[in-house]
Amino acid sequence: MSNYKISCIPGDGIGPEVLEQGVKALEAVGKKLNISFDWIYHPYGAEHYLKTREILPVSALKEMEATDAIYLGAVGDPRVKPGVLEKELLLKLRFHFDQFVNLRPIKLYPGVATPLKDKGPKDIDFYVVRENTEDFYIGLGDSTNEKRHKTSFSLVRSVYEVEFDINLNQSRRDELAYQIGVVSRKGTERVARFAFELARKKAKTRVTSVDKANVLTDVYSLWREVVGEVAKNYPGIEVEYSFVDAITMWFVKQPEWYQVVVTPNMFGDIITDLGAMIQGGMGLAPGGNINPDGVSMFEPIHGSAPKYKGKNVANPVATILAGQLMLEALGEQEAADLLEKAVIEVLREGKVRTKDLGGSSKTSEVGDAVAKKVKEL
Ligand code: NAD
Ligand code: IPM
Ligand code: MN
Repeated sequence: MSNYKISCIPGDGIGPEVLEQGVKALEAVGKKLNISFDWIYHPYGAEHYLKTREILPVSALKEMEATDAIYLGAVGDPRVKPGVLEKELLLKLRFHFDQFVNLRPIKLYPGVATPLKDKGPKDIDFYVVRENTEDFYIGLGDSTNEKRHKTSFSLVRSVYEVEFDINLNQSRRDELAYQIGVVSRKGTERVARFAFELARKKAKTRVTSVDKANVLTDVYSLWREVVGEVAKNYPGIEVEYSFVDAITMWFVKQPEWYQVVVTPNMFGDIITDLGAMIQGGMGLAPGGNINPDGVSMFEPIHGSAPKYKGKNVANPVATILAGQLMLEALGEQEAADLLEKAVIEVLREGKVRTKDLGGSSKTSEVGDAVAKKVKEL
């Protein structure tokens, strides 16, 4: 029997409700295939922060280091200033564990409606490999506004030798803020290699690289160059380049073209919400923050959807499918396939589905249905 220690962070809003269903589905899979899980719960999120002012202590990171994976619901709460929990909890985890890949499958399942006219499951089935530790997410920026000012003007000047005409005494009218994106050769190389290896493993023949090398020439010409160099090691796989604005148009017009898409961090964030909608909605789109040699973290790509908090109406399928990605990353392919099959069956039958999919089932009923299906299969 294999055993896995999983760190669970239910988080905020609908996070706890959907994560509970993910755990339920994974427990069912474990029972059937002789896999056991120790779920180690962490209280971090808005409630804990408002009570204690603590966001994510170093001791928790240390505890998580000793586990096999992290399973997260969602973070973000209207009572907390935007960015506090998102950066200090979610991004902190991605960066601390150097989870340099954010793997987001865009897959339309039978029985699920896509808003794209005349498109079906055979047309929408690809992977987005989002770089997860660089670009505009590194947190390097500042503002001339006294309240927002941090300490990094000099850092930016010395590290990047950028000259800004800035000082803290500027009038409100002259206020400015900046944020810097950084792309590195190593960072691009490792994520590009992951994308091509994924293409090879999944028998795909094309990798599409996303950038904006026609405008943000410094960062994305490096990105493009490195992706091209990595591609040379994969002769059977075609590489193509797409500007980010154009790819949003093509995702809608011709999704069947795409097999594996590799993208810088911020563009990846944006295009995967679009991807989620073409696969049936935010409630269906899972993601894995992956460090192939470390602790990876699995979560739905949606947020905490505060308006649905505590109502037992959110769709837990994205979180359950994040569990499938977790099983796959742990090397439990048979278990991953079983879980996906159970989700596919429940969706195909269409009897138990939440409001976003046109049904009236509760969040917990979807979890029950998937767990029951796992038993039956
Ligand atoms: P969101 O993804 O939380 O919700 C947007 C809308 O999508 C919801 O109002 C709802 O209509 C729909 N939706 C999302 N998940 C759903 C589900 N499981 N079932 C049914 N419908 C669902 O995005 P937002 O409203 O922009 O952000 C809310 C908060 O979440 C913010 O604080 C944001 O920073 C945070 N956020 C967190 C994560 C994360 O933890 N990974 C991701 C995105 C946003
Ligand atoms: C996501 C979210 C996060 C991101 C935020 C909440 C930090 O939007 O996982 O897509 O931008 O990566
Ligand atoms: Mn996002």
